[in-house]
Amino acid sequence: MRKIVLYIAASLDGYIARPNGDTSWLEEEKYTLEGEDFGYSDFLKSIDTTLMGHSTYQVILAFGTPFPYAGKKNYVFSRTSHLDTEHVKFIQKDVVSFVQQLKQQQGQNIWLIGGSQINTLLHNAGLIDEVLLTYIPVILGSGIPRLAPRRGH
Ligand SMILES: NC(=O)c1ccc[n+]([C@@H]2O[C@H](COP(=O)([O-])OP(=O)(O)OC[C@H]3O[C@@H](n4cnc5c(N)ncnc54)[C@H](OP(=O)(O)O)[C@@H]3O)[C@@H](O)[C@H]2O)c1
Repeated sequence: MRKIVLYIAASLDGYIARPNGDTSWLEEEKYTLEGEDFGYSDFLKSIDTTLMGHSTYQVILAFGTPFPYAGKKNYVFSRTSHLDTEHVKFIQKDVVSFVQQLKQQQGQNIWLIGGSQINTLLHNAGLIDEVLLTYIPVILGSGIPRLAPRRGH
């Protein structure tokens, strides 16, 4: 069966974005090496589908660049209805059973892009098969965690 792979970058203290959603710390030049993509292009070839929450999708749109996952099947989860676009299909209802069905279909692996809410939902449903986590050597102190703690814990 195809796998769901959470491929994500986090700060050393486990945040995927600052409290306001800012992720510019991921792109700082001091954390890049010319000619080195740290396995990203190979990973991209191994997947044919992406999953993301609406907030993550909005952050990607705000970059103002061409949609980065054109050519893949891209699903965006939202509780409200939106028109599908050339690149993405919105999924409004029953995310967990949608993803369970997706896993049963033929295809390459599925990239769970994030963010925290969707990671947590799919983790709690036991649907994440692999985690590829890149730590960026920065401490943010606060922000949006990779996974949200369960209520009461
Ligand atoms: N560091 C990294 O590699 C990385 C990777 C991914 C994301 N991020 C960052 O993570 C941040 C976003 O994370 P987040 O946790 O705030 O948001 P998110 O998980 O990306 O999206 C949350 C949204 O998903 C929808 N949603 C949540 N539960 C749902 C359900 N049960 N059914 C249907 N829709 C549901 C809701 O959309 P509606 O409000 O439309 O209903 C909700 O507001 C952004 O700043 C992004 O840049 C970082």
